[in-house]
Amino acid sequence: MTTWNPTRRDFVKTTARAGGALGALGALGHLACAAPGDGDMAGGDPGPPDPQRILILGGTRFIGPHQVKYALDRGHEVSIFTRGRTEPPFFHDYFERVEHLIGDRNDDLSALEGREWDAVIDNSASIPRWVALSTELLQGNVGRYLFVSSISAYVDFASVGIDESYPVGQLSSPDAENEYGPGKARCEAINTEAFGEGAINVRPGLIVGPGDNTDRWTYWPVRVARGGEVLAPNSPTDPVQNIDARDLSEWIVRLVETPGTGGTYNATGEVQTFGAMLDEIRAALGSDATFTWVSTEFMEEHGVRPWGHMTNWVPPEGESIGMNQVSVAAAVEAGLTFRPLGATARATMEWWNTLPEERRGQMRAGLPAELEAQVLAAWGERG
Ligand SMILES: NC(=O)c1ccc[n+]([C@@H]2O[C@H](COP(=O)([O-])OP(=O)(O)OC[C@H]3O[C@@H](n4cnc5c(N)ncnc54)[C@H](OP(=O)(O)O)[C@@H]3O)[C@@H](O)[C@H]2O)c1
Repeated sequence: MTTWNPTRRDFVKTTARAGGALGALGALGHLACAAPGDGDMAGGDPGPPDPQRILILGGTRFIGPHQVKYALDRGHEVSIFTRGRTEPPFFHDYFERVEHLIGDRNDDLSALEGREWDAVIDNSASIPRWVALSTELLQGNVGRYLFVSSISAYVDFASVGIDESYPVGQLSSPDAENEYGPGKARCEAINTEAFGEGAINVRPGLIVGPGDNTDRWTYWPVRVARGGEVLAPNSPTDPVQNIDARDLSEWIVRLVETPGTGGTYNATGEVQTFGAMLDEIRAALGSDATFTWVSTEFMEEHGVRPWGHMTNWVPPEGESIGMNQVSVAAAVEAGLTFRPLGATARATMEWWNTLPEERRGQMRAGLPAELEAQVLAAWGERG
């Protein structure tokens, strides 16, 4: 048993930073249901309903652009609400067809006053006061309100197969604004109080794929593409879970366009093993990488951290045992589908390779190459 502190905190911290003013296939890999965006069609999707008017609070950083594209492709009208500071990373043609409302969730929602939408997707809040302000203003003018929460809302990950009934964290004081997980939980409660059956709360795990500027999961395809001996965490049988931003975003749009979908949903991928994940990435990228599985204790002794260095990995024990083994049964029942992981790896690399060389030279997460080489050498020389 390792002596590391519960790594849920690392997850919460990096997730909060990523969001800024801000995710068991057994060994089989992600289910092979695709969705538009890869040229594949989602299985069982009955197609878009009548056009809806959708407001996205946010829309321009990571999951927002994927929602914008999918919603427009399905014939909906889209408005977005931001401060006007963040440029969408791609899909610029799509944003020309979007109504862009400018304001600030802190203190200026005037652009939303007197307006009506069929549904709202709230991506940008972790602060309960923001959700209190927006739900109060939009109540009566909006049919459904979907709040993008996080699995960090849970009080801990001390159990395997956590479903939506598991306890959530509590704010240390009602006015606290910098407590990410408990803040998300309180935002959900405010949404449910305001919108009742029209309230939808979605709790993603690590969100991955094209456009993720945190580089967390991106580290793995980039590292595997480089090839050679890759340091991999602990054991190929350790569990891992993540969700392609497009699977999440497209399902969110389908949820808000469908009456009767109110409720709370975990939204991450089905569990697979770390070994299966890395094998799928290697196969998808045609890499010659080999994986050397270095024990938890050895990594700890040599300064290799879970999550920050070994991105998407936490020791499957103690308070983090359930973090990569959350139940997604309710979401799958409600229509969440999964691209093959190889498609995520390829799309991530296509996007990554469009970034300037300087940016690609400064990976924001993952194990630095020098440290990896040192630890692999030490691992090889151990008695
Ligand atoms: N990444 C993960 O792995 C992960 C995991 C679990 C949950 N989540 C949650 O998923 C969501 C992801 O959000 P995203 O960034 O991808 O959403 P997004 O809709 O793509 O972008 C959010 C937008 O909100 C705007 N914004 C920020 N502060 C604002 C303010 N004070 N007033 C008005 N607009 C503001 C920003 O634009 P401006 O700068 O122009 O205002 C930003 O572009 C977050 O809620 C996060 O907590 C993420």
